[in-house]
Order: sequence, then structure tokens, then C-alpha cells
Amino acid sequence: MTGAGRGLGRAAARRLAGDGAALVLADIDPATVRDAEDEICRLGGVAQAVHADVADQGACQRVVDTALESFGGADILVNVANYPVPPARAEEVDLEHWHKSFAAGPLAMFMLARAVFPHMRSAGGGRIVNFGSELSENPRPERVVYAASKGAVRALTKALAREWGAYNIHVNTIWQMNWPPATRRSLRRCRPGGVLSLRPRQRLGHRPDDRG
Ligand SMILES: NC(=O)c1ccc[n+]([C@@H]2O[C@H](COP(=O)([O-])OP(=O)(O)OC[C@H]3O[C@@H](n4cnc5c(N)ncnc54)[C@H](O)[C@@H]3O)[C@@H](O)[C@H]2O)c1
Repeated sequence: MTGAGRGLGRAAARRLAGDGAALVLADIDPATVRDAEDEICRLGGVAQAVHADVADQGACQRVVDTALESFGGADILVNVANYPVPPARAEEVDLEHWHKSFAAGPLAMFMLARAVFPHMRSAGGGRIVNFGSELSENPRPERVVYAASKGAVRALTKALAREWGAYNIHVNTIWQMNWPPATRRSLRRCRPGGVLSLRPRQRLGHRPDDRG
């Protein structure tokens, strides 16, 4: 699990640990990921923290090697980590954010997926879950880099699913909908009709749903 130090990654890690998974928790923030490891172990789960920047190919390999050495395999890969792109109008975006967003987003997901692939294939299958975003489908103003990066996550996921389905490796994206208050306020400004009108079930997600 990448991006496991806080937020949704940490919540999903807690949930998977509760379901009996032994977890490698990877995050660029060493303090939060160690804290996540402590929390899961205190709750009776099995977890090992790895301080890793997933934009780095060597670090991705280290994450997978840790799973193999500590737990003897890599059955599930959950790619949550995301570079926090500051909102900016397209004409003002600093190109550095494009590079960082793609490096820690779709490229990192690909590097990790490729590192687990031979082990999943020889084990007879596996699961890869990539955290995407609704913005890949409905971009908002000032989120061009994030929307493009999550669009790449979506295409990457479908491409891998097509290639690796034959090996019983399922590759999916999750678009979580548990928007924090600031996101809801910004959505209200962009869509005065309200975001609920866009939802088939007229509701937003919440943490238990999103962990599931
Ligand atoms: N929170 C939302 O409203 C929302 C909505 C749609 C999609 N998402 C997606 O869900 C995922 C989790 O969202 P969140 O709000 O919990 O994010 P968050 O920013 O709270 O947490 C992201 C985690 O990733 C880690 N991280 C960042 N760069 C990294 C790197 N290079 N290497 C390793 N770790 C790195 C951070 O340290 C952090 O622990 C993200 O992919 C995000 O794009 C979130």
C-alpha cells in the first residue's frame, strides 16, 4: 500500500489489516508511515513501514522486495500515493508540477505494478488497485495537472487490465467520493446546481464506503 501514512491510504491499510492482510506500508513521510505501522501492530495486525518516494524506481523495487522478503509474496498492490498539485489556472501552471505529478502518480503506479507482476503471475493471480479521481472524467478549473494525471491513471489501469487479465491479475481504479469540506465548497462555486445532481444516487461517499 503506497501513500499509507495518512488519509485514505491509512484508512484502507487499517481495513486490509483487519481483514488479515500482512502489509507493507510505503510513504514519503517517514514519521506518519511509522506511526501507521505502530497503530496497525497495536490493533493486532501485521505491517511493516518503508520510507519510500514512489517516484523513484529503486524505491518501488525496495517496497516490493520488502513484501517478498518479509511476507513471502505480493498478492495485492494498492497505489494510493499522490503528489499534492496546488490548484492553478492552466496558463499559470508551473511545469515542474506536471513532472512531479506524473512521476509520483501514473508512472509510480506503473513501476510498482511491473515490479509485482512476475510474482503475481507465478502465484496464479493478484489484485492491483489504483486510486484515480472523478476529475479524470469531469475536470474542474484550476485542476488541469491533477485531472490529466488521473486520466493517465485511468488509461494505465485499463491497459494493464487488458494485458494481465489473462494471468488472473485484476487491475481496477477507485474513484473515491469522500470530499473534504474545502473540495465541496469549490465544487459549489463551479457547479451552482449542486454536485448531488450529478450523482445517480444523490449522495456523496463517506469513509466506511471508501475504505471498502
Ligand atoms: N481526498 C479526496 O477527496 C480524494 C478525491 C479523489 C481522489 N483522491 C485520491 O485518493 C488518494 C488518497 O487521497 P488522500 O486525500 O488520502 O491523500 P493525502 O494527500 O491525504 O495522502 C497522500 C499520501 O501519499 C503520500 N505521498 C505523496 N507523495 C508520495 C511519494 N512520492 N511517495 C510515497 N508517498 C507519497 C503522502 O505523504 C500521504 O501520506 C490520492 O491518490 C488522491 O488523488 C482523493
